[in-house]
Amino acid sequence: MASFSKCYAIKKNDFIKAGDASIKIKNLLKSTDIDPAIIRRVAVCGYEGEINVAMHGGNGKICIDIGENQITIKIDDDGPGIEDIDLAMKKGFSTATDKWREMGFGAGMGLPNMFKNADKFNIESEKGNGTHITMEFSLKGNI
Ligand SMILES: Nc1ncnc2c1ncn2[C@@H]1O[C@H](COP(=O)(O)OP(=O)(O)OP(=O)(O)O)[C@@H](O)[C@H]1O
Ligand SMILES: [Mg+2]
Repeated sequence: MASFSKCYAIKKNDFIKAGDASIKIKNLLKSTDIDPAIIRRVAVCGYEGEINVAMHGGNGKICIDIGENQITIKIDDDGPGIEDIDLAMKKGFSTATDKWREMGFGAGMGLPNMFKNADKFNIESEKGNGTHITMEFSLKGNI
């Protein structure tokens, strides 16, 4: 398949639409012959990242690039950024508000799950400079 890229907007605090972009990405991938196990991992990572942008971040976007050898997901937001990335990556760490917790979020498992499910995971964030995540999923052996 030729390389294909598409981006979807994510809106701060929009808990009605949060998750929609990841569903679109999942459906897009389902229309290809990509291994369903890989699609599932991409969908988990996209969903967790998208919810994080809406819940903790700011306005942003999620982009998918389907190449011959890998899928790349980039998630960027213009929110407050993460002061201590090592702490944010720890299982169980969460700053989710009561409102989001009532909706079932806030287990502090999103970033650890993204790290676990992606073949390559990179996060760049600093206070005041938004959060920028890139994840790669190999379509052929190891990248
Ligand atoms: N895009 C972001 N912008 C700012 N802070 C973030 C962002 N993503 C994650 N964080 C910070 O990292 C913490 C851990 O994120 P993680 O996704 O692991 O857990 P959670 O979102 O709090 O809960 P869960 O994902 O299990 O519902 C968050 O509580 C938040 O403090
Ligand atoms: Mg999360």
